This record gives sequence, C-alpha cells and structure tokens, in this order.
Amino acid sequence: MLTKLLEINQIGEERSGIFDIHEKYWPQPGQYMPCQPDADPAAPLVTNLFRVIGSDDRLYLGPLPDNWLPGDSIHILPPQGKGFSIPVTARRVGLLPFDVSPMRLLPLLKIALMQNAALVLFWDAGQNHDILHRLPIMVEVAPTGSLAENLDWLDFLAVDVELAKLSQLDSLLSIPELPFDGQVLVHTDMPCRGISECGVCAVRTTRGWHLACTDGPVFQLKELFHVAQ
Ligand code: FES
Repeated sequence: MLTKLLEINQIGEERSGIFDIHEKYWPQPGQYMPCQPDADPAAPLVTNLFRVIGSDDRLYLGPLPDNWLPGDSIHILPPQGKGFSIPVTARRVGLLPFDVSPMRLLPLLKIALMQNAALVLFWDAGQNHDILHRLPIMVEVAPTGSLAENLDWLDFLAVDVELAKLSQLDSLLSIPELPFDGQVLVHTDMPCRGISECGVCAVRTTRGWHLACTDGPVFQLKELFHVAQ
C-alpha cells in the first residue's frame, strides 16, 4: 500500500516517523513492515521498520533512514514475522535493549502496564535523557549490568539485540538455566523477507537454523540461550 510519512521525531540518536496507515495494519511490537520510497520504485523493499514508542492514537515506526522527509510517499507492506507476546500471567517484566536503542522495546510498556506488571528497563541511558523523559513514572531504569542480580525477580524478559551480539547474552545471563520466560527480537538485515531464502537472516537455535524474517524476528529466549552464534 502507498502511504504518507506525516511527521518525523527524534528518539535518542534515531529517528521515527508517524505514518498515515489504518489501525488494522499496525504491527505488533517486534513485527516489521518492509518499506520503499515511492521516488525509487526500482529499489527492493529492504527498509524494515518497527513499531516504536509514541502516542496511542498514531502509528510510529522506526528507525527511519536519514534521507526520508515529511511528506514522502512510501510503499509499505503489511506487518511481517512474529512479534512479542508477553504472557498474561507475567507480573515482573524486564526490557533489555542490548547495545541498541530501546525504541523497539518501549511499545511493550503499555501492554505490561495494562496487566499490572512491574517494569524495569535494563539500559545504560548515557546522555539519552529525552527517552527517559518519555517513560511512565512506574518504569524503573537500572543499569544493564544489574540484570545479573535481578534474574530471580523476573517473570519475563524482552530483549532487543543485533544478531552479531547474540552470543554475548550468555555472559550477561550468567546462569545455567533461565528461571523465567523471555523473548528476543533478533535485529538483522532481512533483504528478501524469505521470498528467495537468501539465508542472510539465519539464526541458530536449539531446534536448528531458523530464519529471522519468517520464523522471527522475535524468538523464544530459551531457544537461543547457550546456542546462539
Ligand atoms: S531475509 Fe532472506 S531468508 Fe530471511
């Protein structure tokens, strides 16, 4: 479908955009929407945008390429892949943007708060004060390194990590078995979206190799723990 990029927002060091898309096509947190500017119809649909934090009544997607501008016409496909699903019984939820912006995880705040869960964002905010100011006051922010001391507290952990850094999660979660549920958004290039099975997005799991574009990009944490590379 063809849509308009209405406005652009800065979120920390990344940009998000407000898109004019009917609510029935809005992605779940963790799902992606392949996009292509109308001005470049020959280019493949390789810019994958995710739901990011914003007001509830409009669709915010990001991270946006630097050269996209308000008013641009964008071809966009419906939501693809598997998104996050927080168990309804989870009462203590952690969010872990691992060396990435928390922008793709923050849409989970509303879902967790609606089921009265306590929330901790494990993140080293640095100078990103604008993101901290957008968080509801019920959200606690703790350094990434403090996660290891809080593993018994968690019911559910949502992670966003680049594919190349997936193995580093094992050292952060320094226990032989996980005492909680979790899901991981594996951040990687997904140039073909599974159409030509290029394999660029292959992720090693306990069930063998899987494709982030069709089997993910959100995977169960227990399927990646101690096997990822
Ligand atoms: S992007 Fe080509 S197989 Fe996943």
